[in-house]
Amino acid sequence: MPNDTLAVTDNRTGKRYEISIQDGTLRAVDLRQIKVSEDDPGLMTYDPGFLNTASCRSAISYIEGDKGILRYRGYPIEQLAERSSFLETAYLLLHGELPSAAQLESWVHNVTHHTIIHENIKKFIDGFHHDAHPMGMFVSTVAALSTFYPEAKQIQDATSRANQIFRLIAKAPTLAAFAYRHSVGMPYAYPDNDLSYTGNFLNMMFKATEVKYTPNKALERALDVLFILHADHEQNCSTSAMRGVGSAHADPFSAMAAAAAALYGPLHGGANEEVLRMLREIGSKDRIPPYIARVKRGEIRLMGFGHRIYKNYDPRAKIIQRIAEEVFAVTGKNPLIDVAVELERIALQDDYFVTRRLYPNVDFYSGIIYEAMRFPMDIFPVLFAIGRTPGWLAQWQEMLLDKEQKIARPRQIYTGPGQRDYLPIEKRS
Ligand code: CMC
Repeated sequence: MPNDTLAVTDNRTGKRYEISIQDGTLRAVDLRQIKVSEDDPGLMTYDPGFLNTASCRSAISYIEGDKGILRYRGYPIEQLAERSSFLETAYLLLHGELPSAAQLESWVHNVTHHTIIHENIKKFIDGFHHDAHPMGMFVSTVAALSTFYPEAKQIQDATSRANQIFRLIAKAPTLAAFAYRHSVGMPYAYPDNDLSYTGNFLNMMFKATEVKYTPNKALERALDVLFILHADHEQNCSTSAMRGVGSAHADPFSAMAAAAAALYGPLHGGANEEVLRMLREIGSKDRIPPYIARVKRGEIRLMGFGHRIYKNYDPRAKIIQRIAEEVFAVTGKNPLIDVAVELERIALQDDYFVTRRLYPNVDFYSGIIYEAMRFPMDIFPVLFAIGRTPGWLAQWQEMLLDKEQKIARPRQIYTGPGQRDYLPIEKRS
């Protein structure tokens, strides 16, 4: 049986150390014993962007990037996309197990009955400029919710946590739809509790003058599956923001606003919007080769391509291709799909993408489907946020209950000047 240790010789001092290895990982603090002198604070690790640093233990989602595997609580994403619903998947992420029929019924009931937002929130939304980006409105209104629920600060209280979790999952679509309707100058459509979670979201988005909105079943299911695909994804940038802000014991509304702000970035959840802009800019198949040439010259990135963890096809992108066909059967084909398919074909044969193992990610095809469903481009990141809400909350709760977790506070290598004395302004050159 081999020793689960790493033997290290510090060539600066000639000293030898044994560092224990657990789960294929070293504890960075174990390196602190490696010093050149008594007043040396000890060896640190340097890892900008956390390329090789585990920030937590987590039992929620699992990715095997080389094989293109994604599982939630052990269940393959393909099975959940085929057989589960978004709310059932949310329950799974948060509770660790699939619900019984009675548990699911009570869970759906609780989420459904928290969809209404306080009338004052509408006043905030009214205050935004007509062309305010829906994601900016979403981030701000999620943060504003914390002022309506001051008891959310009781993060150590399990009942309070459960209430805020219902509220956030239930109200995220309402905030998203209200932000959209504000941007197009339409009156707000209130939640309809007779509809499913996703059916009600479509109602709040698209209801016009009809007395009762009836969602198209195929589109409702397609969007529900898209939400499942986005529900969690290990320690990505926005989840790390959720955990990081939550680690200071901020309330979950404030922490989730931070997570949504991180998601807004074009390298993360904002990529779905950027993909559509890119496909429109390319416009037709014959303009793909010069566009690829620009990417290879390093002028631009191919949006919707590449991933920190997946070095193979993103399993979510494969499922999305199937959903695209189902959606187009109802809506008619989005002509941009032909450009996207050809772009993918050309890129996957090109040495630049092959050697860097860059494949389409979840954002490459999702925007084309959203557009076919009549969602405007700038709401795409908000759709991602609705889907990711249960994952953020599951990770936040896991972090709070993890005895090993502390306030997130990375170290640095200081590169600034040494001590110097303050000079009065008249003496500065
Ligand atoms: N287009 C062109 N080149 C790329 C791309 C791309 N989309 N992505 C990575 N590369 C190149 C990059 O230039 C670098 O090349 P070199 O080694 O010659 O310098 C190499 O591939 C490694 O890239 P990296 O930036 O070190 O990789 P990363 O793990 O830090 O970045 C990423 C991951 C997702 C930010 C990046 O692939 C990217 O910017 N993709 C485009 C934006 C995008 O689609 N984001 C959505 C990600 S999936 C949804 C989500 O979970 O957020």
